[in-house]
Amino acid sequence: MTTEDAVAAAAATEEAVSTTTASEAAVDAVTRQAVDSLSATADPRLRDLLTALVRHLHAFARETRLTQTEWEQAVGFLTATGQACTDTRQEFILLSDVLGLSMLVETLHGHSAPGTTESTVLGPFHLTQSPDRELGDIIDLVGDGEPCVVSGRVRTADGTPLPGAVVDVWQADAHGFYDVQRPDAQPPGNGRGLFTTDAEGAFWFRTCVPSPYPIPTDGPVGTLLKASGRHPYRPAHIHFIATADGHAPVTTHIFVAGGAHLDSDAVFAVKDSLVKDFTPTDDPSLAREFGVPNPFRHARFDLVLERE
Ligand code: BEZ
Ligand code: FE
Repeated sequence: MTTEDAVAAAAATEEAVSTTTASEAAVDAVTRQAVDSLSATADPRLRDLLTALVRHLHAFARETRLTQTEWEQAVGFLTATGQACTDTRQEFILLSDVLGLSMLVETLHGHSAPGTTESTVLGPFHLTQSPDRELGDIIDLVGDGEPCVVSGRVRTADGTPLPGAVVDVWQADAHGFYDVQRPDAQPPGNGRGLFTTDAEGAFWFRTCVPSPYPIPTDGPVGTLLKASGRHPYRPAHIHFIATADGHAPVTTHIFVAGGAHLDSDAVFAVKDSLVKDFTPTDDPSLAREFGVPNPFRHARFDLVLERE
């Protein structure tokens, strides 16, 4: 390299550095202005949330050097997510679920007092009011699954039963669909029930053994899963919300022990303590007592609430 070449190269490097420096300064200025614009937000919590959101969004764009085309694709994706929402479908909750955000928020704030039932995500299918049911009612109104009895008590960690507690239950049918997904094949309220515990805090109902199912993949969330090479399955489960006066409510599931996808739930919602035996039971007189065909499966577990 001649001296002249070296001088030219040094000048070019200097120019590149100063361009980079200038653009980084401009980038920082945009972030500063956007953050400063929020300083008059009256609600301090809202101000904190918006400020952190802007800072993290800007950091994301800076770290990934987000391009204009990618920004347009992201806007298109979020627009399609909103457009996929209906009265019976919540694609934004689904998006939050598959990104692990729902479970993260749940884990940050879920109930974890020793001995109480752990919580997990609500999911997008608690959209309709569960019908009131009597203890022992059948919630699988279609009746083409493996018969199952679910029983337990709502109680406190020290064993005190909670009579009059409300247990809201919802589950997919034997084919892996919720009633709202298949209104042509399932009556409204299929797989759902609102039960009130008896004087011993006990609840029980008859249903079918749930099966693993794919979360809906015919919308933008399905496109995202496919692009990232992920399967859409959730392990078999039944949802519960238990509430009792003077106690913190719990939103949770029970998962079928030994079932598929327990270690790769599409929405990251499995906790070991929520995996329960659905015990195969071959006992004609017990089946008669419960009013189910023999053999059947029996899941027994307690919903344990924390005093407020
Ligand atoms: C559900 O279990 O109902 C569910 C939860 C998260 C995403 C999709 C479905
Ligand atoms: Fe579910």
